Amino acid sequence: MRSLALTIAAVAVTAGLAGCNKSSNSQAPTNEAATSAGATPAEPTDAQKKALIATLPAPYSTGDLDNGEAKFAICKSCHTLTAGGPDMTGPNLNGVFGRKVASKPGYNYSDPMKAQAFTWDTDHLDKWLTDPKAMIPGTKMTFVGFKDPKDRIDVIAYLKAETSPVS
Ligand code: HEC
Repeated sequence: MRSLALTIAAVAVTAGLAGCNKSSNSQAPTNEAATSAGATPAEPTDAQKKALIATLPAPYSTGDLDNGEAKFAICKSCHTLTAGGPDMTGPNLNGVFGRKVASKPGYNYSDPMKAQAFTWDTDHLDKWLTDPKAMIPGTKMTFVGFKDPKDRIDVIAYLKAETSPVS
C-alpha cells in the first residue's frame, strides 16, 4: 500500500498535480474533452439533456449546452452538480430547479440568503447570474455576474441538463 501510494504521489508530482488534491478520479484525465458518453448511469444522454431543457421556457429551452459547460467553468471552483456531490465554497446544485432558495441540507448559507423565500426557476437564476449582490445584498457568493445574456441562458440550460433527475 505504502509504496503504491508513494508511486502515485511521485507520478502526481511529476505531472505537476501535487497541489490538486480535490480530484475525485485521478484515473480520468478528461478535463479537456468533455465527452458525454454516459460513462456513469446517472449521466443523461445528449437526447435526454435536450428533452430536459425543452421543458424550460424560451430562450432557455434552446440554450447552447457546450457554451453553458464552458462558461460553467467559473462556477466549478465553488459548486458541484452531481447528485450527492459535496458542498464546496458554495452549495451542491443538484436539483436546484424547483428547490427553495437556501435549502440545501447541511450547507451554511448567509443570513440574507436564508431570509429569501422564492423557489429557483429560470427567471430567478437569470437575475442571480446577472449580479448576485444586486439581487441579494450581503450574499457571500462572490461571482460578479455574466454581462452577456447569452452566457446566462446557456449556463441555465446547462444547469437544467446536469442537475435534473432523469426518469
Ligand atoms: C467564488 C465561489 C462561487 C462562484 C465562482 C460561484 N458561486 Fe454560486 N454560490 C457561492 C456561495 C458561497 C453561495 C451561497 C451564497 C450565500 O449563502 O449567500 C452560492 C449560491 C449559489 C446558488 C443558490 C443555491 C441555493 O441553494 O439557493 C446558485 C443557484 C449558484 N450559486 C449558482 C452559481 C453559478 C451558476 C455560478 C457560475 C456562473 C456560481 N454560482 C459561481 C459561491 C460561488
